[in-house]
Amino acid sequence: MTIKISPSLLASDFANLEAEVKRTEAAGADMLHLDIMDGHFVPNLTMGPVVIEAIRKHTKLFFDVHLMLDNPADYVEAFAKAGANGITFHLEAVPEPEDLLKKIGSMGLLRGLSINPDMPVERLEGHLDNVDMLLIMSVFPGFGGQKFIEESVERVAQAKALIGDRPVEIQVDGGVNVENARRLKAAGCTNLVAGTSTFRADDMRAAVDAIRNA
Ligand code: DX5
Ligand code: ZN
Repeated sequence: MTIKISPSLLASDFANLEAEVKRTEAAGADMLHLDIMDGHFVPNLTMGPVVIEAIRKHTKLFFDVHLMLDNPADYVEAFAKAGANGITFHLEAVPEPEDLLKKIGSMGLLRGLSINPDMPVERLEGHLDNVDMLLIMSVFPGFGGQKFIEESVERVAQAKALIGDRPVEIQVDGGVNVENARRLKAAGCTNLVAGTSTFRADDMRAAVDAIRNA
């Protein structure tokens, strides 16, 4: 699988979202990562479907929606309608994720399942035939700009071993930069979320390329 780069809009200039999504597209990103927080599952609030709908008009980028919500099932339809192309939710929030994964798949969207840094990777076993992408969090979710948790590299390798030859992508999110991207890829990561290291770089295209080619 080729490496995909998904810049996280959370690190962008929220006063200029139209310009920021166009900048992401021009930088050659594969996806746009959209962090949705509810103030319960994580101690922060971000944006809802109205914002996704508003930026949808300005780009053809794949919308990679990351739901950090206690009750993601209540919102997947709204995000699909707003223009999501993939929806990832947390196993911590939905311990029996089969129905919701099925629902996301039935809407024609990429099905993503995420775990926080303190959830054993083995807990993903049993769900691997019903997902398109695993998201291994490399920080505790809630805020951009946090320090990458080193153990995440080993957790990617564990996830890759569990996946075997299934066509499941491994995404990593949190503190990703050129330095750890190299090790994450070597461990089997196929999709890198990067907020601070792309949006806050002097040259976003160069930053995306550097992470992709690390
Ligand atoms: C963390 C979010 C991440 C975050 C990544 O709660 O899920 O997507 O925006 O930002 P950086 O790359 O700055 O750590
Ligand atoms: Zn995220």
